[in-house]
Amino acid sequence: MAETGLTARPGGPLRGRIRAPGDKSISHRALILGALAEGETEIEGLLEGDDVKRTAQAMAEFGAGVTREAEGRWRVRGHGLLLEPDSVVDCGNSGTGARLIMGAAAGFPIVSAFTGDQSLRGRPMLRILTPLGRMGASWLCREGGRLPLSLRGGGLLAIVYRPPEPSAQVKSAVLLAGLSAAGVTEVIETEPTRDHTERMLRAFGGRVDVEDEADGRHIRLAGGQTLSGAKVRVPGDPSSAAFPLVAALITPGSEVTVEGVLLNPLRAGLLVTLREMGADLTIENEREEGGERVGDVTARHSALRGVEVPAGRAPSMIDEYPILAVAAAYAGGPTAMRGIGELRVKESDRIAMMAAGLAACGVGVEEEAEGLIVAGTARANHRVAGGGLVHTHGDHRIAMSCLVLGLGAEKPVTVDEPGMIATSFPGFGALMAGLGADIA
Ligand code: S3P
Repeated sequence: MAETGLTARPGGPLRGRIRAPGDKSISHRALILGALAEGETEIEGLLEGDDVKRTAQAMAEFGAGVTREAEGRWRVRGHGLLLEPDSVVDCGNSGTGARLIMGAAAGFPIVSAFTGDQSLRGRPMLRILTPLGRMGASWLCREGGRLPLSLRGGGLLAIVYRPPEPSAQVKSAVLLAGLSAAGVTEVIETEPTRDHTERMLRAFGGRVDVEDEADGRHIRLAGGQTLSGAKVRVPGDPSSAAFPLVAALITPGSEVTVEGVLLNPLRAGLLVTLREMGADLTIENEREEGGERVGDVTARHSALRGVEVPAGRAPSMIDEYPILAVAAAYAGGPTAMRGIGELRVKESDRIAMMAAGLAACGVGVEEEAEGLIVAGTARANHRVAGGGLVHTHGDHRIAMSCLVLGLGAEKPVTVDEPGMIATSFPGFGALMAGLGADIA
């Protein structure tokens, strides 16, 4: 069925204080660890986006008791193991859900079958199937390691694994399988990636050792550990906060505060980069919430300049390149983003999608195999032209980025398939409208 597009129109300044929705990565992990643990897990601030709701449903199919008690408040009753689901587990649009659940399921002597939406069925799964296979799981999948696939787990032996690509999903899948493997599972990361799995395992009473050595970060976990249910408070998602913050930076007269944003350094690359571009960003009320640093982040309209983003920063802002490309379009001078080949295997090929979306809105852009260079448009009396219809290929972050682009442009910007925004940021349109944005 054809979906109606959503259009962002240039308008007045954005002003106000909002709370970002719960962090998606932490929400998935809270549900999965809750199911693997023994006893009750209480979650506050769970992101109720489509991706996370799929994971909640999946955990119920694997035998956990999962109940929603109020908005964002969920309870998981885990039994210390996963049972065989009697139907195919549909992870929707979520690579994180699919890969982490497969890692967890591989630890148990059960057969489970997985599928997802059209985007997820096109994404590479060999990156987790290869290490899970080495641990002793077996699987049958479509050509190229694609979903649907089925997995038989149990009887795993620990491995030492160095993922070829920096990926928290791969690391987490191997660690979750390692919980049920004989011996000490070790993941070696050349570039550290988000560490929510490691932190949360500890909060559930697990033991994980992390050591930085000359050849990278070594994460070790002994098999046969029992996790106990825990209380999890989910902080605000920095990947979602990025949209209103960048909207404020590019819209004259704006000042927007997003409260309770996760400030974990392995997720904070966008804030570092925006500051290098001259963004007026301040962080107040820094505090500890549920084992993570959070703070209230304020962005004010700023004259931005183009920068070269160090390739090594990619893991700490991997989901933020589309919105960074929007900030770059409003900057003076070019912004070069390199070492971002992983963007081609996200919910869409995000390098190609942003290049096409920016070009459709009159922004100069150059696509490289593993990079994107955006020509800034800022000159006296000159703005981003806008006026484009952007094809998002069902990618929520492309949709939100291009809508933000339209807020400061000369002509409106329309995106197709805005319904996908609910995968990570339900209520995005209403929240932006509350700040004064014209998105309808
Ligand atoms: C995630 C890791 C990242 C990120 C994704 C969430 C996670 O993926 O893009 O949105 O929660 O572990 P990769 O591990 O594939 O880089």
